[in-house]
Amino acid sequence: MPDTTSALGSPAARREGPAKVTGAARYAAEHTPEGCAYAWPVPAGVARGEVTAVDDTAARALPGVVTVLTHLNAPRLAEPDDPTLGVLQNTRVPHRGWYVALVVADSLETAREGAAAVRVTYAEEPHDVTLTADHSDAYVPEDSDGTSGEHVRGDADAAYARADARVDVTYRVPPLHNHPMEPHAATAHWEDGRLTVYDSSQGAGTVRDVLAGLFELSKDQVTVVSEHVGGGFGSKGTPRPHVVLAAMASRVTGRPVKLVLHRRELAAVVGHRSPTVQRVRLAAEADGTLTSVVHEVTSHTSRIKEFVETAAAATRVMYPSPHGRTTHRVVPLDVPSPSWMRAPGETPGMYALESAMDELAETLGIDPVELRLRNDTQREPDSSRPFSSRHLAECLREGARRFDWSARDPRPRSRAEGPVMVGSGVAAATYPVIVAPSRASAHAAADGSFVVRVNATDIGTGARTVLAQVAADALGVPLDRVRTEVGNSDLPAASLAGGSSGTASWGWAVHEACTRLAADLADRKGRIPSSGLVATADTAGRADADSAYARHAFGAHFAEVGVDTVTGEVRVRRLLGVYAAGRILNSRTARSQFIGGMTMGLGMALTEGSTLDPAFGDFVERDLAGYHVPAHADVPAIEAHWIDEDDPHLNPMGSKGIGEIGIVGTAAAIGNAVHHATGARQRELPITPDRVL
Ligand code: MOS
Repeated sequence: MPDTTSALGSPAARREGPAKVTGAARYAAEHTPEGCAYAWPVPAGVARGEVTAVDDTAARALPGVVTVLTHLNAPRLAEPDDPTLGVLQNTRVPHRGWYVALVVADSLETAREGAAAVRVTYAEEPHDVTLTADHSDAYVPEDSDGTSGEHVRGDADAAYARADARVDVTYRVPPLHNHPMEPHAATAHWEDGRLTVYDSSQGAGTVRDVLAGLFELSKDQVTVVSEHVGGGFGSKGTPRPHVVLAAMASRVTGRPVKLVLHRRELAAVVGHRSPTVQRVRLAAEADGTLTSVVHEVTSHTSRIKEFVETAAAATRVMYPSPHGRTTHRVVPLDVPSPSWMRAPGETPGMYALESAMDELAETLGIDPVELRLRNDTQREPDSSRPFSSRHLAECLREGARRFDWSARDPRPRSRAEGPVMVGSGVAAATYPVIVAPSRASAHAAADGSFVVRVNATDIGTGARTVLAQVAADALGVPLDRVRTEVGNSDLPAASLAGGSSGTASWGWAVHEACTRLAADLADRKGRIPSSGLVATADTAGRADADSAYARHAFGAHFAEVGVDTVTGEVRVRRLLGVYAAGRILNSRTARSQFIGGMTMGLGMALTEGSTLDPAFGDFVERDLAGYHVPAHADVPAIEAHWIDEDDPHLNPMGSKGIGEIGIVGTAAAIGNAVHHATGARQRELPITPDRVL
């Protein structure tokens, strides 16, 4: 039977699934070219200071050590745009864990032993890793793209002062870590003046461009392969120091070099979600109509790179109010550089806003679903642009129906099962529609098969599969006639797998190339020359064009929790999400993305979070023994549903992004459920037993 499930929206199974479960799929660390050497980095042992001496005598004396690289002998790099990539270039230590040396050896074990034998001496300086909202170094960053800085409308403080109902609350979210299943790894090989790198990345094209720049090569002298990637959640969205070090080591030794980061090192060098302190002030009339919304966010960044956790950005999208102010402040500290983590900004920001909405609903005595419905809008509050589509109200209503919300007794502490208090909560979610220009080619072979080429990255999402569906749909052929090639910088250039933008961005180019190819085939009455036929597409100038519409996905999360009054343990009993994210192109992989996001939100609510030790100057929880991500037993009943949207203002497929919205409001829904169960507000995550009791 031919596979005819080409229709967009069908639950086509992941094409690389069998290769993954049989071990045939090879990840960055699983390429071992002939003569491969192994590298192990040496992290800085102080939180701030200068390297004054490196003694590598003992390391070099180990049999099998090939070389030791330090700032004294490492290749000079061109000035990086991203300062976190300027490794082994000088003596400065901006944070604990910053790499100060690299040992290359014939075996992994020897490299590791060698790294432990390197003695580094520092001139240590006092450090500060503690974020406070009133830190004297806090500043308002420039608003480069509308998601940062400060936005003001009306007179928020005056409106707050005269309101019928007010909420003034502060929430704290700790540092969070991406921890993809596959830690960052690269295998680099210089050969005849060309550099080939297998890297675990969300975008091989960016890695290629950055390496070419740092090593002063032309882009066509560098190939980066990211064929299979075991997750990234933003931490692989930009090149990380490991890939630069692997390339350096290969250049120096003339051998292929493999560098796999130990999970304990990720927190220092691959980014993290910055902690936030968020003050939210809501003012409303007695009927629940919001009159003033103030959201002030303070987050940290490192000394070498400004990163803003744009937690107030979603507040500019959600609820209309004549008066409002959204402000970001950052505090540079002696910490590792924060970066993207799944729905950066929206995730902590909507935790705060949607928790505050729950507090306002309680203050007003209005059902929290109803309060959100009363403040729905079809125009983006911050920009006044109409939404291309916004079905938040439909998500809330459909979720309430499925969750049997109307049966809920609104009073806190109204339901107990022995020592377990039971409660339920709701929160809304939003995530912007992001799309970037991409190129793709489509080839028709004489035997009637098709190959689509695009440097998309499949980070476990099913990108290969959905792109084949987009292609088969545009070509009007069964899905099994289409093969996709992704994950290689030599393929037609495409944007990275980030910002929930992949399918829309790559799919647009694939759709266009295949539509052209189909037209060409129709002109030829289906006759394909023996050499085949090719069509290409490039969406530059269109995918990145401004829209007259505000484009965002929306969703609603519902959670039921049981809180054990003896142990303080919170268990999630049920999680349900309803999303409005354009047209869903593959129901199976989409569901997987939604519930993956919700699971990550569950972790954020209850178990995840790390601590910056003020004396030590680094994260305390750096492996999965200390940093607790949810396991299957923590996720008993989880459902994702969606409302199909027909939005003509997006892309030829009519899709919005789905990779991130699942996490966005989940922690707030769970926190609100904990309040409903216990009557106590938890305003600091994660909601661990010590905080509950
Ligand atoms: Mo996502 S945090 O944009 O990879």
